[in-house]
Amino acid sequence: MATEPALHLLRHHGDTEVAGGGLVDLAVNVRTGTPPTWLRTLLAEELGRLAAYPDGREARAAVAAGHRRPVDEVLLTSGAAEAFVLLARVLRPCRAVVVHPQFTEPEAALRDAGHRVERLVLRAESGFTLDPAAVPPDADLVVVGNPTNPTSVLHPAASLAQLARPGRVLVVDEAFADTVPGEPEALAGRGDLPGLVVLRSLTKTWGLAGLRVGYLLAEQALVTRLARAQPLWPVSSLALAAAIACSSPAALAEADAAARQTADDRAYLLQRLAEFPQMTVHGLPRASFVLLQTPGASALRDRLRALGFALRRGDTFPGLDTDWLRVAVRDRATTDALCAALTAVL
Ligand SMILES: Cc1ncc(COP(=O)(O)O)c(C=O)c1O
Repeated sequence: MATEPALHLLRHHGDTEVAGGGLVDLAVNVRTGTPPTWLRTLLAEELGRLAAYPDGREARAAVAAGHRRPVDEVLLTSGAAEAFVLLARVLRPCRAVVVHPQFTEPEAALRDAGHRVERLVLRAESGFTLDPAAVPPDADLVVVGNPTNPTSVLHPAASLAQLARPGRVLVVDEAFADTVPGEPEALAGRGDLPGLVVLRSLTKTWGLAGLRVGYLLAEQALVTRLARAQPLWPVSSLALAAAIACSSPAALAEADAAARQTADDRAYLLQRLAEFPQMTVHGLPRASFVLLQTPGASALRDRLRALGFALRRGDTFPGLDTDWLRVAVRDRATTDALCAALTAVL
Protein backbone atom coordinates (compact mmCIF):
# COMPACT_ATOMS: atom_id res chain seq x y z
CA MET A 1 0.00 0.00 0.00
CA ALA A 2 1.44 3.37 -1.00
CA THR A 3 1.77 5.96 1.73
CA GLU A 4 -0.62 8.90 1.63
CA PRO A 5 1.03 12.17 0.62
CA ALA A 6 0.75 15.04 3.09
CA LEU A 7 -2.08 17.42 2.33
CA HIS A 8 0.21 20.24 1.25
CA LEU A 9 1.61 17.94 -1.44
CA LEU A 10 -1.82 17.85 -3.05
CA ARG A 11 -1.02 21.39 -4.09
CA HIS A 12 2.20 20.42 -5.85
CA HIS A 13 1.93 20.81 -9.63
CA GLY A 14 4.24 20.19 -12.56
CA ASP A 15 4.86 23.90 -13.17
CA THR A 16 7.02 24.15 -10.04
CA GLU A 17 9.30 21.47 -11.52
CA VAL A 18 10.23 23.70 -14.45
CA ALA A 19 10.41 26.97 -12.50
CA GLY A 20 13.50 28.98 -13.35
CA GLY A 21 13.52 27.71 -16.94
CA GLY A 22 16.40 26.18 -18.85
CA LEU A 23 15.14 22.59 -18.58
CA VAL A 24 13.50 20.42 -21.23
CA ASP A 25 9.93 20.47 -19.95
CA LEU A 26 8.57 16.94 -19.59
CA ALA A 27 6.72 17.88 -16.41
CA VAL A 28 3.88 20.11 -17.64
CA ASN A 29 1.30 18.60 -19.96
CA VAL A 30 0.73 21.67 -22.10
CA ARG A 31 1.20 21.04 -25.84
CA THR A 32 4.50 22.40 -27.11
CA GLY A 33 4.56 25.20 -29.68
CA THR A 34 1.33 26.67 -28.38
CA PRO A 35 -0.61 28.92 -28.52
CA PRO A 36 -0.61 28.61 -32.32
CA THR A 37 0.13 31.76 -34.31
CA TRP A 38 -3.47 32.22 -35.46
CA LEU A 39 -4.63 32.20 -31.85
CA ARG A 40 -1.95 34.64 -30.73
CA THR A 41 -2.97 37.00 -33.54
CA LEU A 42 -6.61 36.74 -32.58
CA LEU A 43 -5.83 37.44 -28.92
CA ALA A 44 -3.62 40.39 -29.86
CA GLU A 45 -6.49 41.86 -31.88
CA GLU A 46 -8.72 41.51 -28.85
CA LEU A 47 -6.45 43.81 -26.82
CA GLY A 48 -8.05 46.85 -28.44
CA ARG A 49 -11.40 45.91 -26.89
CA LEU A 50 -10.16 45.45 -23.32
CA ALA A 51 -11.82 48.65 -22.08
CA ALA A 52 -15.21 46.92 -22.26
CA TYR A 53 -16.43 44.54 -19.57
CA PRO A 54 -16.55 40.93 -20.74
CA ASP A 55 -19.78 39.55 -22.18
CA GLY A 56 -19.77 35.74 -22.11
CA ARG A 57 -22.90 35.09 -24.19
CA GLU A 58 -21.23 34.43 -27.53
CA ALA A 59 -18.57 32.18 -25.99
CA ARG A 60 -21.18 30.24 -24.05
CA ALA A 61 -23.19 29.70 -27.21
CA ALA A 62 -20.09 28.62 -29.14
CA VAL A 63 -19.10 26.06 -26.48
CA ALA A 64 -22.68 24.77 -26.26
CA ALA A 65 -22.87 24.34 -30.04
CA GLY A 66 -19.50 22.53 -30.05
CA HIS A 67 -20.92 19.89 -27.68
CA ARG A 68 -24.51 20.00 -29.01
CA ARG A 69 -25.79 21.03 -25.59
CA PRO A 70 -28.29 23.77 -24.70
CA VAL A 71 -26.64 27.07 -23.78
CA ASP A 72 -27.95 26.98 -20.21
CA GLU A 73 -26.03 23.73 -19.59
CA VAL A 74 -22.69 25.50 -20.06
CA LEU A 75 -20.74 27.47 -17.46
CA LEU A 76 -17.55 29.22 -18.56
CA THR A 77 -14.86 29.19 -15.91
CA SER A 78 -11.43 30.58 -15.26
CA GLY A 79 -9.83 27.25 -16.20
CA ALA A 80 -11.12 23.87 -15.06
CA ALA A 81 -9.46 24.71 -11.74
CA GLU A 82 -12.18 27.26 -10.93
CA ALA A 83 -14.84 24.60 -11.48
CA PHE A 84 -13.36 22.39 -8.74
CA VAL A 85 -13.60 25.27 -6.27
CA LEU A 86 -17.14 26.22 -7.31
CA LEU A 87 -18.33 22.63 -6.94
CA ALA A 88 -16.65 22.30 -3.54
CA ARG A 89 -18.18 25.53 -2.27
CA VAL A 90 -21.69 25.01 -3.62
CA LEU A 91 -22.29 21.27 -3.08
CA ARG A 92 -22.97 19.79 0.35
CA PRO A 93 -21.97 16.15 -0.11
CA CYS A 94 -22.53 13.63 2.71
CA ARG A 95 -20.13 11.16 1.14
CA ALA A 96 -17.59 12.51 -1.34
CA VAL A 97 -15.43 9.94 -3.12
CA VAL A 98 -12.45 10.89 -5.28
CA VAL A 99 -11.05 8.21 -7.59
CA HIS A 100 -7.24 8.23 -7.37
CA PRO A 101 -4.53 8.48 -8.53
CA GLN A 102 -5.80 11.62 -10.23
CA PHE A 103 -5.24 15.36 -10.42
CA THR A 104 -5.18 16.51 -6.81
CA GLU A 105 -6.99 19.86 -7.03
CA PRO A 106 -10.54 18.40 -6.77
CA GLU A 107 -9.66 16.79 -3.45
CA ALA A 108 -7.77 19.84 -2.23
CA ALA A 109 -10.72 22.13 -3.09
CA LEU A 110 -13.18 19.81 -1.33
CA ARG A 111 -11.00 19.70 1.78
CA ASP A 112 -10.54 23.47 1.73
CA ALA A 113 -14.32 23.83 1.68
CA GLY A 114 -14.52 21.65 4.81
CA HIS A 115 -15.68 18.37 3.25
CA ARG A 116 -14.49 14.95 4.26
CA VAL A 117 -13.06 13.10 1.26
CA GLU A 118 -12.81 9.34 0.77
CA ARG A 119 -10.30 7.98 -1.70
CA LEU A 120 -10.95 5.10 -4.03
CA VAL A 121 -7.42 4.18 -5.09
CA LEU A 122 -7.14 2.21 -8.34
CA ARG A 123 -4.39 -0.39 -8.47
CA ALA A 124 -1.43 -0.36 -10.80
CA GLU A 125 -1.52 -4.17 -11.01
CA SER A 126 -4.93 -3.97 -12.64
CA GLY A 127 -3.84 -1.26 -15.04
CA PHE A 128 -5.65 1.45 -13.03
CA THR A 129 -8.99 0.20 -14.34
CA LEU A 130 -12.12 1.35 -12.57
CA ASP A 131 -14.72 -1.18 -11.50
CA PRO A 132 -17.91 0.87 -11.11
CA ALA A 133 -19.00 -1.55 -8.38
CA ALA A 134 -16.07 -0.35 -6.24
CA VAL A 135 -17.68 3.07 -5.83
CA PRO A 136 -19.79 3.10 -2.64
CA PRO A 137 -23.45 3.11 -3.71
CA ASP A 138 -24.31 5.87 -1.23
CA ALA A 139 -21.57 8.25 -2.44
CA ASP A 140 -23.42 11.43 -3.38
CA LEU A 141 -20.37 13.05 -4.99
CA VAL A 142 -17.91 11.11 -7.14
CA VAL A 143 -14.95 12.70 -8.93
CA VAL A 144 -13.04 10.89 -11.66
CA GLY A 145 -10.67 12.01 -14.43
CA ASN A 146 -10.97 10.77 -18.02
CA PRO A 147 -8.39 10.34 -19.40
CA THR A 148 -6.85 10.43 -15.97
CA ASN A 149 -3.87 12.54 -14.97
CA PRO A 150 -1.33 11.06 -14.11
CA THR A 151 -2.10 7.45 -15.17
CA SER A 152 -3.08 8.40 -18.75
CA VAL A 153 -5.74 5.67 -18.57
CA LEU A 154 -8.98 6.25 -20.49
CA HIS A 155 -12.01 4.73 -18.77
CA PRO A 156 -14.82 3.42 -21.00
CA ALA A 157 -17.69 5.93 -21.19
CA ALA A 158 -20.06 3.06 -20.38
CA SER A 159 -18.31 2.39 -17.03
CA LEU A 160 -18.55 6.02 -16.05
CA ALA A 161 -22.14 6.34 -17.22
CA GLN A 162 -23.01 3.49 -14.82
CA LEU A 163 -21.90 5.73 -11.96
CA ALA A 164 -24.48 8.43 -12.76
CA ARG A 165 -27.69 8.29 -10.75
CA PRO A 166 -30.28 10.56 -9.20
CA GLY A 167 -29.08 11.97 -5.88
CA ARG A 168 -25.42 11.86 -6.89
CA VAL A 169 -23.23 14.42 -8.60
CA LEU A 170 -20.76 12.65 -10.87
CA VAL A 171 -17.88 14.93 -11.85
CA VAL A 172 -15.87 13.74 -14.84
CA ASP A 173 -12.77 15.82 -15.40
CA GLU A 174 -12.22 15.74 -19.16
CA ALA A 175 -9.41 18.31 -19.14
CA PHE A 176 -7.38 15.98 -21.40
CA ALA A 177 -10.23 14.48 -23.44
CA ASP A 178 -9.17 16.39 -26.53
CA THR A 179 -5.74 14.73 -26.46
CA VAL A 180 -7.45 11.46 -27.48
CA PRO A 181 -8.27 11.32 -31.22
CA GLY A 182 -12.03 11.38 -31.77
CA GLU A 183 -12.69 11.66 -28.01
CA PRO A 184 -14.25 8.17 -28.03
CA GLU A 185 -15.04 7.96 -24.31
CA ALA A 186 -16.08 11.57 -23.69
CA LEU A 187 -19.33 12.25 -21.86
CA ALA A 188 -19.41 15.98 -22.61
CA GLY A 189 -22.28 15.57 -25.07
CA ARG A 190 -24.44 13.54 -22.66
CA GLY A 191 -27.17 15.75 -21.24
CA ASP A 192 -29.26 12.69 -20.37
CA LEU A 193 -27.21 11.30 -17.45
CA PRO A 194 -28.53 12.44 -14.06
CA GLY A 195 -26.13 14.53 -11.99
CA LEU A 196 -23.35 14.44 -14.58
CA VAL A 197 -20.88 17.35 -14.52
CA VAL A 198 -18.17 17.36 -17.19
CA LEU A 199 -15.20 19.69 -16.85
CA ARG A 200 -13.18 20.85 -19.81
CA SER A 201 -9.99 22.86 -20.10
CA LEU A 202 -8.70 24.90 -23.02
CA THR A 203 -5.32 25.44 -21.41
CA LYS A 204 -3.49 22.26 -22.41
CA THR A 205 -4.12 21.74 -26.10
CA TRP A 206 -4.07 25.47 -26.83
CA GLY A 207 -1.25 26.60 -24.55
CA LEU A 208 -3.47 28.98 -22.55
CA ALA A 209 -2.52 28.00 -19.00
CA GLY A 210 -1.67 31.63 -18.27
CA LEU A 211 -4.94 32.93 -19.71
CA ARG A 212 -7.16 30.64 -17.57
CA VAL A 213 -10.05 29.33 -19.63
CA GLY A 214 -12.27 26.28 -19.30
CA TYR A 215 -15.90 25.36 -18.78
CA LEU A 216 -18.27 22.85 -17.31
CA LEU A 217 -21.33 21.11 -18.72
CA ALA A 218 -24.13 20.12 -16.35
CA GLU A 219 -27.87 20.24 -15.90
CA GLN A 220 -29.25 23.75 -15.97
CA ALA A 221 -30.24 23.95 -12.27
CA LEU A 222 -26.69 23.14 -11.14
CA VAL A 223 -25.16 25.52 -13.68
CA THR A 224 -27.34 28.29 -12.22
CA ARG A 225 -26.27 27.48 -8.64
CA LEU A 226 -22.59 27.38 -9.59
CA ALA A 227 -22.85 30.61 -11.58
CA ARG A 228 -24.20 32.38 -8.48
CA ALA A 229 -21.01 31.42 -6.64
CA GLN A 230 -18.82 33.04 -9.30
CA PRO A 231 -17.61 36.61 -8.98
CA LEU A 232 -18.86 39.14 -11.46
CA TRP A 233 -17.01 38.86 -14.82
CA PRO A 234 -15.13 35.68 -13.88
CA VAL A 235 -13.75 35.01 -17.37
CA SER A 236 -11.78 37.75 -19.13
CA SER A 237 -12.58 38.98 -22.65
CA LEU A 238 -9.36 37.41 -23.94
CA ALA A 239 -10.35 34.07 -22.46
CA LEU A 240 -13.85 34.40 -23.95
CA ALA A 241 -12.36 35.14 -27.38
CA ALA A 242 -10.20 32.03 -27.01
CA ALA A 243 -13.24 29.92 -26.05
CA ILE A 244 -15.07 31.05 -29.19
CA ALA A 245 -12.06 30.46 -31.43
CA CYS A 246 -11.22 27.06 -29.94
CA SER A 247 -14.80 25.85 -30.44
CA SER A 248 -14.75 26.46 -34.20
CA PRO A 249 -14.78 23.44 -36.56
CA ALA A 250 -11.29 24.40 -37.79
CA ALA A 251 -9.91 24.50 -34.25
CA LEU A 252 -11.56 21.19 -33.37
CA ALA A 253 -9.97 19.65 -36.47
CA GLU A 254 -6.59 21.09 -35.47
CA ALA A 255 -6.95 19.66 -31.96
CA ASP A 256 -7.81 16.26 -33.40
CA ALA A 257 -4.77 16.33 -35.70
CA ALA A 258 -2.61 17.25 -32.70
CA ALA A 259 -4.13 14.33 -30.77
CA ARG A 260 -3.21 11.96 -33.61
CA GLN A 261 0.36 13.27 -33.60
CA THR A 262 0.44 12.80 -29.82
CA ALA A 263 -0.68 9.18 -30.24
CA ASP A 264 2.19 8.58 -32.70
CA ASP A 265 4.71 10.30 -30.46
CA ARG A 266 3.44 8.38 -27.44
CA ALA A 267 3.83 5.05 -29.25
CA TYR A 268 7.44 6.00 -29.99
CA LEU A 269 8.07 7.08 -26.39
CA LEU A 270 6.66 3.77 -25.10
CA GLN A 271 8.74 1.80 -27.59
CA ARG A 272 11.92 3.59 -26.48
CA LEU A 273 11.09 3.27 -22.77
CA ALA A 274 10.64 -0.49 -23.26
CA GLU A 275 14.44 -0.59 -23.83
CA PHE A 276 14.83 0.06 -20.09
CA PRO A 277 13.81 -3.15 -18.29
CA GLN A 278 13.66 -1.43 -14.91
CA MET A 279 10.78 0.78 -16.10
CA THR A 280 7.16 -0.36 -16.08
CA VAL A 281 4.15 1.33 -17.60
CA HIS A 282 0.86 0.09 -16.11
CA GLY A 283 -2.36 0.16 -18.07
CA LEU A 284 -2.73 1.59 -21.54
CA PRO A 285 -1.68 5.26 -21.80
CA ARG A 286 -4.07 7.25 -23.99
CA ALA A 287 -3.31 10.90 -23.17
CA SER A 288 -0.43 13.31 -23.70
CA PHE A 289 1.65 11.88 -20.84
CA VAL A 290 2.89 8.54 -19.57
CA LEU A 291 3.24 7.30 -15.99
CA LEU A 292 6.31 5.21 -15.19
CA GLN A 293 7.19 3.00 -12.26
CA THR A 294 10.86 2.46 -11.63
CA PRO A 295 12.69 1.71 -8.37
CA GLY A 296 14.33 4.89 -7.06
CA ALA A 297 12.42 7.21 -9.41
CA SER A 298 13.04 10.16 -7.11
CA ALA A 299 16.82 9.90 -7.37
CA LEU A 300 16.54 9.23 -11.09
CA ARG A 301 14.51 12.40 -11.49
CA ASP A 302 17.26 14.38 -9.73
CA ARG A 303 19.92 12.92 -11.99
CA LEU A 304 17.87 13.73 -15.10
CA ARG A 305 17.39 17.27 -13.83
CA ALA A 306 21.13 17.66 -13.62
CA LEU A 307 21.25 16.69 -17.30
CA GLY A 308 18.59 19.28 -18.17
CA PHE A 309 15.34 17.25 -18.16
CA ALA A 310 12.41 18.06 -15.87
CA LEU A 311 10.08 15.12 -15.16
CA ARG A 312 7.04 15.26 -12.88
CA ARG A 313 7.39 13.52 -9.51
CA GLY A 314 4.69 10.92 -8.92
CA ASP A 315 4.62 10.71 -5.14
CA THR A 316 2.32 13.71 -4.64
CA PHE A 317 -0.54 11.73 -6.22
CA PRO A 318 -2.50 9.61 -3.72
CA GLY A 319 -1.82 5.93 -4.43
CA LEU A 320 1.68 6.49 -5.83
CA ASP A 321 5.03 6.78 -4.10
CA THR A 322 8.63 7.78 -4.79
CA ASP A 323 8.98 5.03 -7.42
CA TRP A 324 6.78 6.89 -9.91
CA LEU A 325 7.39 9.58 -12.51
CA ARG A 326 5.15 11.21 -15.12
CA VAL A 327 6.61 12.11 -18.50
CA ALA A 328 4.95 14.40 -21.05
CA VAL A 329 4.76 13.06 -24.60
CA ARG A 330 6.97 15.16 -26.87
CA ASP A 331 8.36 14.80 -30.39
CA ARG A 332 10.74 11.97 -31.33
CA ALA A 333 13.87 14.09 -31.09
CA THR A 334 13.02 15.03 -27.49
CA THR A 335 12.24 11.41 -26.65
CA ASP A 336 15.57 10.33 -28.13
CA ALA A 337 17.37 12.97 -26.09
CA LEU A 338 15.57 11.82 -22.93
CA CYS A 339 16.49 8.19 -23.62
CA ALA A 340 20.13 9.14 -24.17
CA ALA A 341 20.07 10.87 -20.79
CA LEU A 342 18.42 7.81 -19.22
CA THR A 343 21.12 5.56 -20.65
CA ALA A 344 23.74 7.88 -19.19
CA VAL A 345 22.29 7.91 -15.67
CA LEU A 346 21.00 4.36 -15.26
C1 LIG B 1 -6.54 16.57 -14.94
C2 LIG B 1 -6.55 18.07 -14.84
N1 LIG B 1 -7.72 18.70 -14.70
C3 LIG B 1 -7.80 20.03 -14.60
C4 LIG B 1 -6.66 20.80 -14.63
C5 LIG B 1 -6.78 22.29 -14.51
O1 LIG B 1 -6.83 22.83 -15.77
P1 LIG B 1 -6.98 24.38 -16.02
O2 LIG B 1 -5.66 24.89 -16.49
O3 LIG B 1 -8.04 24.49 -17.09
O4 LIG B 1 -7.43 25.01 -14.75
C6 LIG B 1 -5.41 20.20 -14.75
C7 LIG B 1 -4.17 21.00 -14.78
O5 LIG B 1 -3.09 20.49 -14.78
C8 LIG B 1 -5.36 18.78 -14.86
O6 LIG B 1 -4.20 18.14 -14.98
